[in-house]
Formats: sequence, C-alpha cells, structure tokens
Amino acid sequence: MADKKVIAVVGATGAQGGGLARAILNDPNGSFAARIITRDVNSPKAKEFAKLGAEVVAADVDDTESLKKAFAGAYGAYCVTFFWAHFSPEKENAEARSMAETAKAVGLRHVIWSTLEDTRKWVPISDDRMPTLQGKYKVPHFDSKGESDHLFTDSGVPTTFLLTSFYWDNFIHFGMGPKKGPDGKLGITFPMGDKKLPGIAAEDIGKCAYGIFKKGDEFIGKTVAISGENLTGAQMAAAFSEAFGKDVQYNSVPPEVYRSFGFPGADDLGNMFQFKRDFEDYFSGIRKPEFARTLNPALQNFKTWLTNNKSAIPME
Ligand SMILES: NC(=O)c1ccc[n+]([C@@H]2O[C@H](COP(=O)([O-])OP(=O)(O)OC[C@H]3O[C@@H](n4cnc5c(N)ncnc54)[C@H](OP(=O)(O)O)[C@@H]3O)[C@@H](O)[C@H]2O)c1
Repeated sequence: MADKKVIAVVGATGAQGGGLARAILNDPNGSFAARIITRDVNSPKAKEFAKLGAEVVAADVDDTESLKKAFAGAYGAYCVTFFWAHFSPEKENAEARSMAETAKAVGLRHVIWSTLEDTRKWVPISDDRMPTLQGKYKVPHFDSKGESDHLFTDSGVPTTFLLTSFYWDNFIHFGMGPKKGPDGKLGITFPMGDKKLPGIAAEDIGKCAYGIFKKGDEFIGKTVAISGENLTGAQMAAAFSEAFGKDVQYNSVPPEVYRSFGFPGADDLGNMFQFKRDFEDYFSGIRKPEFARTLNPALQNFKTWLTNNKSAIPME
C-alpha cells in the first residue's frame, strides 16, 4: 500500500468519481490507491468504500483548508464540480479555482479536470440563435467549466483536461427515460433533429480517467474527449425498442420547445442540445469511442449499457 500512488478522488461517492474509485479498487495489483473525498465520512456510500479498504477523508471543495489536507501527500487528483447542486457558474468557477490552486500548493503531479466546452467560443453572446442565460452564458454548466480551464493552466499544476459526454444514466436518474405521449406511445424527447448525441455510461468516465492516470505523463497538458457511442435520437429509440421489446419512438422537438419544458435547468439543457446539434461535426467529431476504448477496454456501447441497466430504467 505504502508504495502506491494515491489518487485523491473528488466526488467519489458520486457518478464520475465513483467510477474512478471503483476502477482503482478493482485493480488491487495496480500501482494506484484511491483516496475517497466526501463531505460525510459516515454516509453509507463512504462506509462502503472504507469497507473495501479505501482511505476515506472528509473535505468540501468550498473549504480550501479541508481540501489541502485531503490532497496532501497524494500523487494525483480527479477534480469534478457540482453544477446541478447550485446552478451557479460563478460557484463552479470558485470550486475549480479552489481545486487547481490547492493541487498546485501541495505539489500534485497529475490532475484530471473534468471539463466541458465554453460554448461561447462557437456561439458568442451576441449570437441570438439561442438565448443568453444568467446574463453572460449560453450553456451555463458547460461555459463555466470551459472558462475554468485556464485556472488549472495558470496554476501550473500538471493537468489533463477531460471532455466528458452526456450520461446515459440520465435515462434513469434525470427523468429522461421513455414516457408516454398524448398518443399513448412511448417516446424519448430531444431537440437534436437527426444529429448525433455522444453518450457514455457515467461509470465509464471514471474508468477512462483511470486509463489516463495509468498512461503516466502521456496526456498531461492535453485535452482528451470521450464517449461510449455517438447516436441519433432515432438510433437510441430503436435500441430502446429492441431492449424492451416495446415500440419506443424518438420525438424531435425544436430547442425552444425543450427550453420551455419548465423543469429546473430546461433552458440550460435546451441550449446544450442545440449546441450539440448545430456543431455536430465538432462535438461528435472530437468524441471518439475508439479512442475512449484505448483508455478503458471495457467501455460500454449503448446497447450493452441498456442491457446492463434495463431493470433500473423507469418505463411508463
Ligand atoms: N449528467 C450528465 O449527463 C453530465 C455529463 C457530463 C458532465 N456532467 C457534470 O458532472 C458534474 C457532476 O458530477 P457527478 O455526476 O459525478 O456528480 P454526482 O454523482 O452528483 O456526485 C457528486 C458527489 O460529489 C460530492 N460533493 C458534492 N458537493 C461537494 C462539495 N462541495 N465538496 C466535496 N464533495 C462534494 C457528493 O459527495 P458527498 O455527499 O459524499 O460529499 C456527491 O456524491 C456536474 O458538474 C455536471 O455538469 C454531467
């Protein structure tokens, strides 16, 4: 244990960090050890990791002193922020700054920063094809992550910038699974037209991150984009139909309709899907499953993910 390189995993009790923590723990002969960072060491998830032999430490990314203790002595860290806990780009920015500066202060040798594009590089604020949100963002939860990239570069901490993709787990946890329409037919709804949506099993993001750490210095200073498969709405609906043996259709709605759905963050997600639709060549082009598979040979495609998660997907 003592000669292992410790990876301090922010968000370890959640989706992305959890995937990384489990990947490290499932490879006991590997050269890394997972340090679970949580705000509550007594939570059932934290205790589960302790039972598996992981080091579990308390820290809050909003409290730099606690983070310093949690990062100290580690080789690397996985840094992720929690936009949907507060919906604030400014807070997300502050969380990224806290992690970047702390990583540098304690001398970490490799940080993976879970980021996304600052969409304003493609759709400037003056571009009215989609509304400007929160005063100066097009896709707040993307823009604030992309805008934070420079905090890692500026701090000088050796960083890999990891561009993630839409979690298929949103079909389970985010209310995006097949629902009955007014015609009684089951459907999934996206404002993507006939364009492809890169998707991934959330668990595979962490497994790809483990692959990056295992490659040593190869991806330091680089941007790495991952997805499990890039599919149109119609292709995802066909996969649902096959997996469930029921007809599931794809409802393509205009982005302005999606933005008006009224759930918290609908406007942000409506803009996000529109960005992915309108810049498909770039967005799907950079996210290559073949590449992600070199980091994580067990990478799931959509069909495999559906088969593995069928019982967890709420179906009306
Ligand atoms: N949903 C998608 O399709 C998608 C796709 C790409 C990127 N993302 C991005 O993924 C990010 C969230 O990552 P995730 O899905 O892995 O999160 P998650 O599953 O919601 O888990 C977050 C974990 O982080 C911990 N946490 C929350 N606030 C914290 C704080 N202030 N300090 C320390 N730990 C804290 C919590 O653990 P404790 O309670 O144990 O402290 C929680 O278990 C978001 O920023 C989102 O934009 C989402």
